[in-house]
Amino acid sequence: LTVVSGVDDVRRTTGDLVLLPMRRKHVNAVLRIEQQVYPEPWTAPLFLSELAMKSVRDYTIASVDDEVVGYSGLSYVDSEAHITNIAVDPRFQKRAIATHLMLRCAELCRQRGVQGMTLEVRVSNAAAQALYRKFGFAPAGVRKGYYTKPSEDALIMWAHDVDSNPYTERLTRIADALEKVR
Ligand SMILES: CC(C)(COP(=O)(O)OP(=O)(O)OC[C@H]1O[C@@H](n2cnc3c(N)ncnc32)[C@H](O)[C@@H]1OP(=O)(O)O)[C@@H](O)C(=O)NCCC(=O)NCCS
Repeated sequence: LTVVSGVDDVRRTTGDLVLLPMRRKHVNAVLRIEQQVYPEPWTAPLFLSELAMKSVRDYTIASVDDEVVGYSGLSYVDSEAHITNIAVDPRFQKRAIATHLMLRCAELCRQRGVQGMTLEVRVSNAAAQALYRKFGFAPAGVRKGYYTKPSEDALIMWAHDVDSNPYTERLTRIADALEKVR
């Protein structure tokens, strides 16, 4: 993927990768990815109800040539944000798309004055945990039997002080490393 920084804060064009707020019209394409990557995929009504909670959610899609190739979701509670979902089409994985989505999530959180970000991840999901560690998330506990199909514990991870200067520097380092790929 070529990566070109955009100027528009809302619609950021990155060469052939575009990040946009998720709309109802994207949900079918999102579900096609969701069903490939999760044993218990979210349903259309669940995505639609999330999208309806406009003031406390931010869902983002990544698209290449007008095709949805990934998405992420944020739920805000007070000064904290929960990453509710992040997934990339298997055909487009390992091309930094999730990294772009996480950068966008962090940016959205900072715009809102969020201090801490949290999420749950299957204890066996090494790929996602590596992605989260890159963004400063550290394990904070385990939720026993949180997942089904197959039954598995969830690792709870937190990134604290995402409104601080050191965290800004972390994001800058990640973004700079992406730029170098060009
Ligand atoms: C996790 C997921 C979103 C990563 O998407 P991606 O676009 O391939 O990720 P990126 O290319 O941006 O990779 C970012 C980092 O994630 C880690 N990573 C991604 N895929 C990995 C893999 N297969 N094995 C190990 N680490 C991996 C690496 O640390 C990578 O950083 P690096 O390239 O500097 O080494 C993707 O694998 C996915 O959709 N998985 C299924 C859904 C899922 O599990 N979501 C998380 C639920 S909690």
